[in-house]
Amino acid sequence: MRYLYQQMLTSFIIVMAGFGIVTLAFFKTTTDTVYESTEAQLFGYADSLLSIVENSGGLHKETVAGAERLLKNQGVAFYIFNEDKELTYPNYQEAFTLKLSKDDWEKLENGKNVSIRKEEERKYAFIVIPYVVDGEFLGGIAASEPLSGIEESLTQLKRNFIIAISLSSLGAAALSFIFAKYQVKRINRMRKATHEISEGNFEIQLEDKGKDEFDELSGDFNQMVTNLKASHEEIERQENRRRQFMADAAHEMRTPLTTINGLLEGLEHDMIPEDKKGKSITLMQNETRRLIRLVNENLDYENIRSNQIVLNKQHFNLKDTLDIIGEQLEQKAADSGNIIKLAVDPRLKVYADYDRFIQIVVNIVQNAIQFTKDGEITLSATENDTAVRLEIQDTGIGMNETELKNIWERYYKADPSRKNTKYGESGLGLAIVQQLMTLHGATIEVTSESNQGTTFILQFPKKPSETEKS
Ligand SMILES: Nc1ncnc2c1ncn2[C@@H]1O[C@H](COP(=O)(O)OP(=O)(O)OP(=O)(O)O)[C@@H](O)[C@H]1O
Ligand SMILES: [Mg+2]
Repeated sequence: MRYLYQQMLTSFIIVMAGFGIVTLAFFKTTTDTVYESTEAQLFGYADSLLSIVENSGGLHKETVAGAERLLKNQGVAFYIFNEDKELTYPNYQEAFTLKLSKDDWEKLENGKNVSIRKEEERKYAFIVIPYVVDGEFLGGIAASEPLSGIEESLTQLKRNFIIAISLSSLGAAALSFIFAKYQVKRINRMRKATHEISEGNFEIQLEDKGKDEFDELSGDFNQMVTNLKASHEEIERQENRRRQFMADAAHEMRTPLTTINGLLEGLEHDMIPEDKKGKSITLMQNETRRLIRLVNENLDYENIRSNQIVLNKQHFNLKDTLDIIGEQLEQKAADSGNIIKLAVDPRLKVYADYDRFIQIVVNIVQNAIQFTKDGEITLSATENDTAVRLEIQDTGIGMNETELKNIWERYYKADPSRKNTKYGESGLGLAIVQQLMTLHGATIEVTSESNQGTTFILQFPKKPSETEKS
């Protein structure tokens, strides 16, 4: 069933139920009121009759008949019983077959008034009072009166009920139609938006006034679209990276391969003078090494990424290790006019895989040398309770924000013209460093400013984690 009709039906049922309850309550109250007022009247008449009977020294049928005549217009009738429950007035039996229950009779005997209501017959009010003269129980005086007006009231009530129900149902239907139409419109807007998304439009956003559940749904929907958009963009980014990686890898290999191929052809056709042959072979060797390095680094990166390397972690002296690295790179640094400075407490120890640690630091220091001219490269270290913090700072060309964001990606070079420099050229160094740091449970951060310099901050956790201990 369409939502519109469901809404209308619900409103209709609610109106019906509401009216039903009100009518029943009203009906009951009206009946009770009519009963009560008529009974009160009858008790009054019966009491008066009883006092007349007492004053006139006994029950005279004429007195009762006279009273009935007086109250003829109201249709009041009296019945008198003796203590054996026998009807002594009127002497004709047709009027009313009076059946007093045992309880009612007991009440009478105890001097109490009794009113009898028969649910199946709402036409008469009927009461009995004890017939007691001089403290002696002589039976009962009963009185009945037709419940005038009750039938008309009920018919009127029914008529009004039908009119009211029809009007309210119409009103409710109209209102619920308008309301449901409004909601259906909102639902349709969502349907349309969902459709748009399935077509690939992630720009769509729904209005969210934060007022009801539909608004909340719209809010969630918008959130979902935002997330979908983000993951869609991430997928595209990954795909582009993959494509870029393939292109870059091919490109990186093409240069050395072309060089080697050219030299080989030259040798084959004897086009290289004898005195240059040695140099050509050295060149080919260099290019081959470069290719091997490229392949190895790629393999290394993939192995680290897929957790295929095992770290052999141990404690070792930080300063001694950095001294060795410093010595190794001293010459390279000097070639570009740089000095390497060490500011490390000789007592500091690092917990890491020794060879991988050297690989990490060498990569970063080599970068620093590569991108700094006539400057300083400072390695300093501190420790706190949980980690050893190593800072590698240079005074080189630095990077802007976009460059900073991308340095961890494979084959990324902030400035492609820098690629054919002496030390770094594949753009793999930092990608590998980052994987190695993650593997160590260590962190690496970088801050940099164009033309000011760059600082890499490495934090190695101090103690082996619980899992490694066990
Ligand atoms: N200290 C630094 N100062 C300025 N730029 C840097 C620094 N370190 C890294 N970069 C930038 O980040 C890029 C990526 O560095 P990464 O070490 O990954 O590659 P690479 O040095 O170009 O090549 P290789 O794979 O041989 O290390 C560099 O090309 C450079 O643009
Ligand atoms: Mg590098």
